[in-house]
Amino acid sequence: MDAASSRLALVTGGLGGLGIEICRQLAQAGRRVVAADLPASEARLASFRESTAEFGDRIVHEAMDVSDHDACVNLVRRLEREHGGVDILVNAAGITRDASLRKMTPTQWHELMRVNLDGVFNTSHAVLDGMTERGFGRIVNISSVNGQTGQFGQTNYSAAKAGVHGFSMALARETARKGVTVNTVSPGYCDTPMVAAVPAEIRAQIVAGIPVGRLGQPADIARAVAFLAADDAGYLTGVNLPVNGGYFMSF
Ligand code: CAA
Repeated sequence: MDAASSRLALVTGGLGGLGIEICRQLAQAGRRVVAADLPASEARLASFRESTAEFGDRIVHEAMDVSDHDACVNLVRRLEREHGGVDILVNAAGITRDASLRKMTPTQWHELMRVNLDGVFNTSHAVLDGMTERGFGRIVNISSVNGQTGQFGQTNYSAAKAGVHGFSMALARETARKGVTVNTVSPGYCDTPMVAAVPAEIRAQIVAGIPVGRLGQPADIARAVAFLAADDAGYLTGVNLPVNGGYFMSF
């Protein structure tokens, strides 16, 4: 088995709208994949198993709450014992708690921060020593176009997602000489349950503003993640890769 195919990837939010497709594309690239997510209902697990069946035990599910630092450390330590360590970390766990600031409760703010921002700290913290000791690592953090532009009703989400790329850039500097790259992928509006929950009228206005003329597909995002997680992507670090159908263009 060559190095690339023996690499182990941990994908948080691995049962989610983007997460499943990220797991599939990493497995397609030959990686072994652990899809970490909250304990799931039988129905959700069955749907996950069906979507990943073609990869057999190359993709497995582990229950893990990213907002729980100890849970992240415990899972990563077990994966180190059982598989030799996590080589690729994709932080795709994310939630929304949309409300204009005047209506937003402290609970909506803190719940979102615990998952979308603390979660990135917790998992990265847990894998970092192993990656730097082994001299190889790929960390890909999923941000959002709404972290770049701001969105009405998303002061919490936009703040966390902008924070995610600040985190990527700072950690990229700390690990650049250790063979560990840290990058961000910023999806636009995608065909996922999270976006399906946006009121239909608002969603229609958003789609009308996407130059490519459609929502993103999870595969569009997973392709960017797999690219940044490749073994030969070692000169790409601290990058934000927007994948938004032209919804927000910048340089
Ligand atoms: N821009 C400017 N003004 C707006 C506005 C907008 N986009 N949306 C609403 N308003 C105005 C209304 O016209 C109204 O004005 P008046 O008070 O003068 O009548 C006022 O703001 C309403 O404010 P409320 O606080 O009462 O808003 P609300 O409670 O009715 O709805 C909301 C707020 C729940 C956030 C709703 O706007 C909404 O769901 N917006 C969509 C947010 C969104 O896009 N979320 C993305 C989720 S998917 C995702 O996040 C994935 C990803 O990464 C892309």
